[in-house]
Amino acid sequence: MEPLKGKVAVITGGSRGLGLAIAEAFVQQGACVVIASRSQASVQQAVAALQARGARVQGTSCDVGEREQVEHLAQFAIDQFGGFDVWINNAGVSAPYGPTVAQDPEVFVRTVKTNILGVYYGSVAAMRHFLPRRQGKLINILGRGDREPVPLQNAYASSKAWMRSFTLALAKEYEQSGVGVFCYNPGLMDTDMMQEVEAVAGYEARVAPLQTVMRMWANPPEVPARRVAWLASAATDGRTGLYVRELGPLQILRGVVREGLRVLARRPAPARELHVSSVPPYDP
Ligand SMILES: NC(=O)c1ccc[n+]([C@@H]2O[C@H](COP(=O)([O-])OP(=O)(O)OC[C@H]3O[C@@H](n4cnc5c(N)ncnc54)[C@H](OP(=O)(O)O)[C@@H]3O)[C@@H](O)[C@H]2O)c1
Repeated sequence: MEPLKGKVAVITGGSRGLGLAIAEAFVQQGACVVIASRSQASVQQAVAALQARGARVQGTSCDVGEREQVEHLAQFAIDQFGGFDVWINNAGVSAPYGPTVAQDPEVFVRTVKTNILGVYYGSVAAMRHFLPRRQGKLINILGRGDREPVPLQNAYASSKAWMRSFTLALAKEYEQSGVGVFCYNPGLMDTDMMQEVEAVAGYEARVAPLQTVMRMWANPPEVPARRVAWLASAATDGRTGLYVRELGPLQILRGVVREGLRVLARRPAPARELHVSSVPPYDP
């Protein structure tokens, strides 16, 4: 079955992690895909790997924090495939764990540019294409903090709260337009973002519990990628303003029980990669 046959999807941050898993899920389900990220080399590598499996995929470099580059990405998809039906704002970055004032302002700004401005530029580029056609699906990828403040992860978490609010407001504004506007929190995933973590010096120990948390609740990115494919499919036709979370109470409970049983049985914890590097606190 190919539920996305005939659809064209644009995926920002599609060169690795969740974005690449989404691209794979979409091509498996019959879609054509355009992927983009800052590094032209990693985009080319991902495109070549997908094309080698027979997929109709194109890619281009794009820093989503730069409006002209996002507009170019939309035009690139139109030039390659004659238009697009789905736009996924997936590109995202996190900042070092640590208190807000100790963060390098440049890192804070980079987070805001990617996670906030990138989603704004991408959403506007997508809506401009969708609205005259009275169809299309915009999917914005949220993350930790989308519903509550997260101390020591303020730049990242507050950007995700902004994204949720922005996406749901956009959905309301265009409720009658025929365009589906959705946001999705994929929950924890084993990707580079969670394997290479930075902490402000003195806060490294605060990151250590991440090992246990990941063991209990992380999914491979292929699991949330399938949910994104579902959001893009005919199953959500006629709907808008959906806010979907991958990690629900049942999965949380299941992870706790599994970890509890492992500890009781004294089974060793499965090894997983977590590299924590220290960054000095910002000193103006
Ligand atoms: N991993 C998790 O546990 C987790 C949990 C909840 C939500 N999320 C969210 O899921 C999304 C994907 O995360 P991930 O874990 O797959 O991250 P990842 O493995 O670090 O991959 C991030 C992707 O985004 C691209 N990217 C970063 N900055 C960009 C920019 N300014 N412009 C264009 N592309 C950019 C990267 O490629 P380049 O470096 O080449 O630009 C890469 O393709 C993010 O929005 C993240 O916040 C992740």
